[in-house]
Amino acid sequence: MSNIDSYEERYSNFDWKISAEELEYGKNGMYNIGFYCSDRIVEKGFGDRTALIWQGFKGDVKEFTYNDIRIYSNVVAKFLIDKGVKSGDRVCIFMDRIPELYISFVGILKMGGITQPLFSAFGEEALFTRLEDAKTKAVITTKKHAGKIRRIRDRLPALEKVIIVDVEEQALKPGEISFNMEKSTPVENFEIEKVGPEVPSVLHYTSGTTGKPKGALHVHSSIIAQYITAKWVLDITSGDIYWCTADPGWVTGTSYGIIGPWACGVTQTVLDSGFNTEKWYQFIEKHKITVWYTAPTAIRLLMKDGTSAVQKYDLSCLRHLISVGEPLNAEGVIWSEQAFGKPFHDSYWQTETGSIVITNYPGMKVKPGSMGKPFPGITATVLDQKTFGPITTPGKVGLIALKPGWPSMFRAYWENKEMYDSKFKNGWYICGDRSSIDSEGYFWFVGRDDDVINTGGHLVGPFEIESALLEHEAVAESAAVGKPDAVNMEVVKAFVALKPGYEANADLELSIMNFIRKKLSPLAMPQEIEFVESLPKTRSGKIMRRLLRAKEWGQEIGDTSTLEND
Ligand code: WT7
Repeated sequence: MSNIDSYEERYSNFDWKISAEELEYGKNGMYNIGFYCSDRIVEKGFGDRTALIWQGFKGDVKEFTYNDIRIYSNVVAKFLIDKGVKSGDRVCIFMDRIPELYISFVGILKMGGITQPLFSAFGEEALFTRLEDAKTKAVITTKKHAGKIRRIRDRLPALEKVIIVDVEEQALKPGEISFNMEKSTPVENFEIEKVGPEVPSVLHYTSGTTGKPKGALHVHSSIIAQYITAKWVLDITSGDIYWCTADPGWVTGTSYGIIGPWACGVTQTVLDSGFNTEKWYQFIEKHKITVWYTAPTAIRLLMKDGTSAVQKYDLSCLRHLISVGEPLNAEGVIWSEQAFGKPFHDSYWQTETGSIVITNYPGMKVKPGSMGKPFPGITATVLDQKTFGPITTPGKVGLIALKPGWPSMFRAYWENKEMYDSKFKNGWYICGDRSSIDSEGYFWFVGRDDDVINTGGHLVGPFEIESALLEHEAVAESAAVGKPDAVNMEVVKAFVALKPGYEANADLELSIMNFIRKKLSPLAMPQEIEFVESLPKTRSGKIMRRLLRAKEWGQEIGDTSTLEND
């Protein structure tokens, strides 16, 4: 089964109402995402259908039906209310991809809280920045990650509750609360918070060029876009077994790792372990996965192991493949046709867009290397960099821009109106990426329009890395840029000028690398450190990252006077 239909027809006749009506969104005054991801599927008569097949890194498997998700998310919601968490409070989920993560996400929404999922590999500084900014009231975590919170808790006056889901009372530190979802009394009936469609739901932190990470704030009605894109782009139908490989610390893992699939009532799978070719193929074969949403870095890693690795498994269950997060090279598309008998379909979007906005729509001709065309309901173009007027010449590169107003567009950067407003020009939302459009309307991604580093589909902000580097005792000044990498597209490279008395050597390089890994995350850790006497700066004293970056990419640096005037 498939939902595929004519792209042209759908694009020309589209109205978001089509999605809202299918979802019966707003019936009985109900707009809460939590309801649409659990209770509604049960009310439709599918309570016994498997909602989640979870597999841990040791191979242990747990399954949850839609009715289980409904009851356990009620348990979480009631627990939070009993502990004094109020609607509108930010509740962070900080754990590996265990069932509690997915179910807490739904539970927090049900009680009206704003969920703030954070990547569990974040170190204490990365965590601190995001919890401090959001004035987060409660964190739900596990034993494994609680230590990081303990070390920063005295600097977080707003953080009242630290909830740990896998420890006994006696192992708690003062001020912590233990919570066992499965051992708690089941909550059959819970009065879901009657939020309006414009009430905040999810807060995802994302990196920009300047300043600290920003919290992109979404609202409950985002589900209108997440549901219909999951249905039409990922092409998931109720009979599918779906696998999204993303971690819910990033937007793909919530929009299409929780909300989209569960609103569609599909069985979704989660593999809580890192990348491994054999393990991934075994997982697909074992659970008979039909729809697979992953990222180009993973595809490149699979390609390295060749089609011979694919042939060891029966992967004929796979029906539809989609990719996101970074440019999907033509080679990846062609290889997947050879390896799996079907191409990966690209999808382009961002934390800020909340849902897929440009894509190789199923059924539409795939042009390998192109991201495809705007999703129905999305008006997309490329704008001239100086005038912000639409470019009409096919093949000419400009800034990707979208007409505001689609349901899952972010509504704010948390307490940063100025930054939010700066993203809109001439009535367009500017994505911050460059692309061209060909004569058939296909978008061809060129690159980002800022200094943000995209490593393996994860954005890392240079400012956050540089700030952390400065906290190392030996570092006087620094610049972080992306350098090319065969697998991850980019990895972080740091240029560092040392304080007097420190000697540049391999030990110091290692010490700085580990310092960043621990403070921020393995993603932010520089893979290379180049020690320099000083860094190139503009006349106003700003470090010229773009010059350093251009050198790494072997690009023409051109007229540096423009860079100097930045
Ligand atoms: C940035 C957004 C999309 C959800 C996960 C990442 C890059 C995303 C593509 C693609 C080329 C892509 C862009 C974008 N990106 N998809 N298909 N082709 N680049 O969300 O962390 O907000 O990152 O990822 O640069 O702006 P995010």
